[in-house]
Amino acid sequence: MTAPMEPTSQEALSIVKLEDICKTYVTGELIVPVLKGINIDVMRGEFVGILGSSGSGKSTMLNILGMLDVPTSGKYLLERQHVETLSDTELATIRNRKIGFIFQSFNLFPHLSVEQNIEVPMLYAGVPRKVRRERAIELSRQVGLGHRLGHRPTQLSGGECQRIAIARSLSNKPAFLLADEPTGNLDEKTSADIIKLFHELNASGSTIIMVTHNPALEAHFDKVIYLRDGRVSEHQNINFGGGPDVGE
Ligand SMILES: Nc1ncnc2c1ncn2[C@@H]1O[C@H](COP(=O)(O)OP(=O)(O)O)[C@@H](O)[C@H]1O
Ligand SMILES: [Mg+2]
Repeated sequence: MTAPMEPTSQEALSIVKLEDICKTYVTGELIVPVLKGINIDVMRGEFVGILGSSGSGKSTMLNILGMLDVPTSGKYLLERQHVETLSDTELATIRNRKIGFIFQSFNLFPHLSVEQNIEVPMLYAGVPRKVRRERAIELSRQVGLGHRLGHRPTQLSGGECQRIAIARSLSNKPAFLLADEPTGNLDEKTSADIIKLFHELNASGSTIIMVTHNPALEAHFDKVIYLRDGRVSEHQNINFGGGPDVGE
């Protein structure tokens, strides 16, 4: 038996690594190659934007990153662990513990209170009730909604709903957040507030991968990954130290 190799410090910082990922959809006679050899590396603490026009494969890539779909070929390493070797049960556990999901349409449970919504991922993870409650209160304060714990999503604005979804995504202290067009349903001012919240979370250590078609958001990211014709190109932004002015 050989001892496992110690990762180099650079490798230890890798949260997500895609190696030559391809995805081809086959529908009857129709073969649609969407991703044609994607290589990306996301490091701990980065705020990464994936930009591409409609139909460029952003959701396909996001579904693979979120382990909701499997690539046709290529490798996906999450914290240096090969995802393709995991069983369905292991995948479900890792998805719940390691990835915080944030969607354009919030995906909150309408019949649950704010507090209960934040607790859902912790419930699946088997976190004891008292700990769940304490953490939900702490997270609701962190996103600026500590006074809304008993409300239901229908009693909140879109921006407030997205704050709850963000609090929920953080509940199991995930390795990274995966946000799919998180400001897509919000007006300009509310979008700016939500982006500001993402910057605050990033400054306090969260690794964030955000998919967007909106080039106006480009300047906010540490690293921009452009998706075009099934391939990626990267651009490293100069560190803005909290991002550009988001119009307070
Ligand atoms: N399940 C599927 N079956 C067949 N084709 C698909 C499927 N999902 C997406 N596609 C095709 O893949 C391409 C990329 O789609 P998608 O990843 O949704 O792009 P984006 O999110 O950037 O708009 C589109 O041409 C779309 O029609
Ligand atoms: Mg999409």
